[in-house]
Amino acid sequence: MSEFGFDLIATDGAARRGRVTTAHGQIDTPAFMPVGTAGTVKAMLPQSVAGTGAQIVLGNTYHLMLRPGAERVQKLGGLHKFMDWPGPILTDSGGFQVMSLAEIRKITEDGVRFRSHIDGSYHTLTPERSIEIQNLLDADITMAFDECTPYPATEKQARDSMELSMRWAKRSKEAFEDRPGYGLFGIVQGSTFENQRLESAQALQDIGFHGYAVGGLAVGEGQQLMFDTLDYTCPALPADKPHYLMGVGKPGDIVGAVARGIDMFDCVLPTRSGRNGQAWTRRGPVNVKNARHAEDPRPLDAECPCPACTQFSRAYLNHLVKAGEILAMMLVTWHNLTYYQQLMADLRSAIEGGTFEAYVAQFNALQAEGDI
Ligand code: GUN
Ligand code: ZN
Repeated sequence: MSEFGFDLIATDGAARRGRVTTAHGQIDTPAFMPVGTAGTVKAMLPQSVAGTGAQIVLGNTYHLMLRPGAERVQKLGGLHKFMDWPGPILTDSGGFQVMSLAEIRKITEDGVRFRSHIDGSYHTLTPERSIEIQNLLDADITMAFDECTPYPATEKQARDSMELSMRWAKRSKEAFEDRPGYGLFGIVQGSTFENQRLESAQALQDIGFHGYAVGGLAVGEGQQLMFDTLDYTCPALPADKPHYLMGVGKPGDIVGAVARGIDMFDCVLPTRSGRNGQAWTRRGPVNVKNARHAEDPRPLDAECPCPACTQFSRAYLNHLVKAGEILAMMLVTWHNLTYYQQLMADLRSAIEGGTFEAYVAQFNALQAEGDI
């Protein structure tokens, strides 16, 4: 089996066009990873997710350990087989989800003790157990166990949190079983403090990872502060390894982060907002529920190849959303994932063609025009 790897194919300014190789296939970057938290990209069949152009999906340690359990998934042949997603899978390590979902949680040097949001049962996640779970799931890309530093944080709070994450990163690396085609990513923390981000990036490189994620962003700091943080963090990451910005974002966030050197993204936005009737298009967000669509015979986006746009009118989509129909969730999710993958494909070809700046200008102009 081939080694886990990253090839840099082209650059345009700080933007990078690359390819990640894993045990279950390749990922062209910049890449967007649809979120399949509980072993499903909600409201989509896996072959439909692949049909939008997605090459990798994300799964969650936290959710899958609680239900159906990592040992059970392994017994059934691993997550790829269980969810019928034959391509690469990245799993998040759990700490972030514990902090946002678990009812009671206590952080110690060892890890996090928490109560399940599903049945109130007690569990412990440590770097060692998180890596073990991700191994049982058969994740192609395993994330180090970290603490997503809440925002805002004082310099002292951010430092204590970042240093804990770096000690956990070391333990994550020691617990990770090196196998061909499988990679482990470290996660840079340090809130919006430049010295801490640089220190964290260096600490992770001293440990050594197959890829480097930027965590602790998109947590309320706003787009400008996020971009400022990436401006100094990305150059501190190894150029020959993939750079992953966790939990981001809106299309404009993604474009700005690619411009600063990010290669991989994940976000619940296209799927979650799709289930709420919010569509994302080349012309910005569209609230499908809005009464202005009620008698509009036009498609959501005449140039989009997805089923929502090729088979149905805005009027019909508006009706489905208002009626709370399951098909509304399916179609708007399908459209959103199609748009996100189209955006990533456009970014990749612009970087390859050396036309990234012109593409960004065109992207911004269309978004500013708004839905028509
Ligand atoms: N998802 C979004 N942000 C983060 C983060 O900082 N750490 C982890 N593990 N997952 C995230
Ligand atoms: Zn569409």
